[in-house]
Amino acid sequence: MITCDPPEHDRDRRMMTPHFVGPPHSPDLISGLEPEIRRIVGGLLDNMRDRTRIDAVDDFAYPLPVTVICKVLGVPLEDEPRFHQWIETALDAWEFGPETATEDFRGKLAAGNRAVQDFGRFAAELYDRYAERPGPGMLSAMVNEDGPEGRMSKGLITSNALLLIFAGHETTVNLIAHSVLTLLRHPDALEQLRRRPELIVPGVEELLRFESSVQFWPTRSAAEDIDIAGTTIPKGAPIFLAYGSANRDPERFTEPDELDLERRDNQHLGFSQGIHFCFGAPLARLEVQNAVGEFVRRVENPRLVEDPPPYRRNQIFRGPRHVLVDIDGIRN
Ligand code: HEM
Repeated sequence: MITCDPPEHDRDRRMMTPHFVGPPHSPDLISGLEPEIRRIVGGLLDNMRDRTRIDAVDDFAYPLPVTVICKVLGVPLEDEPRFHQWIETALDAWEFGPETATEDFRGKLAAGNRAVQDFGRFAAELYDRYAERPGPGMLSAMVNEDGPEGRMSKGLITSNALLLIFAGHETTVNLIAHSVLTLLRHPDALEQLRRRPELIVPGVEELLRFESSVQFWPTRSAAEDIDIAGTTIPKGAPIFLAYGSANRDPERFTEPDELDLERRDNQHLGFSQGIHFCFGAPLARLEVQNAVGEFVRRVENPRLVEDPPPYRRNQIFRGPRHVLVDIDGIRN
């Protein structure tokens, strides 16, 4: 659905929505996941009890979204190492600059295409398994249940399942990791959140504005000629809307380079806008609010070991590869 226009886009999104965000069929589908999210977050923090140094990416940010999206979809968690590798390989081939003309890039592109095909076969096998025997989760529901508009085709179900597995963890990992990094760089904000935990809700919006997980998205193009600031963007031209830049626009946000957990006028573009507005935003918000809120509450005296930390090399998805943090302990 992320690559197509109406009417196909709207029909796909309408058909998937009841299985994901729930209402009106199952209004508590996402909010009902909160106890499970809290249990996973609690377990990850408990595992750090005997440690003096942690990696906020590998030990904390990564395991939560991947466990949750597997549960929501009904994808076996044991398969995670396989699809993690496919995603990493596919991501390496997402380049849009002059690098794409190099020999090295052609190799990455071939490997990326193979990884996407393997990932596609994996999703098709899951489809077949659920068609034979229904099971828990969204994938089985899409395979077996007719909605008012009928059933989605196998091709659409598998490609959208890939999209959800992919979108459902890469972006959220980056936001959790960036939130920890940003709060450790802003001790006043960290202390403010410790004193007033309810600020986690506006706080996560501000953290997403401040460090955008998705810098731009490469599937937009002009549906017709567009005149803007004296330039005509011709129909059909690709358009990269730089969300990361818009989120720091001084004409839109007061003091855009300041972190303000209580920022009021904060209609950021971290989840985009319009018909492609992030489908997983309610789930992502719940995960990040719980993860970051509990990190702040439970981790004693966290200190950044390395600043800036190493970043993953990717033009679209922005996030640190590791965030090493020294800690004094984990509170109950
Ligand atoms: C912090 C976490 C997340 C961020 C920052 C994020 C960001 C975005 C952005 C910017 C887009 C719009 C792309 C465009 O302009 O076309 C998008 C779309 C989308 N996201 Fe997310 N996302 C997050 C988490 C999730 C999760 C957890 C899921 C699924 C479980 C998800 C599923 C999707 C899907 C399916 C779309 C395509 C929607 C459409 O085309 O109608 N995302 N996301």
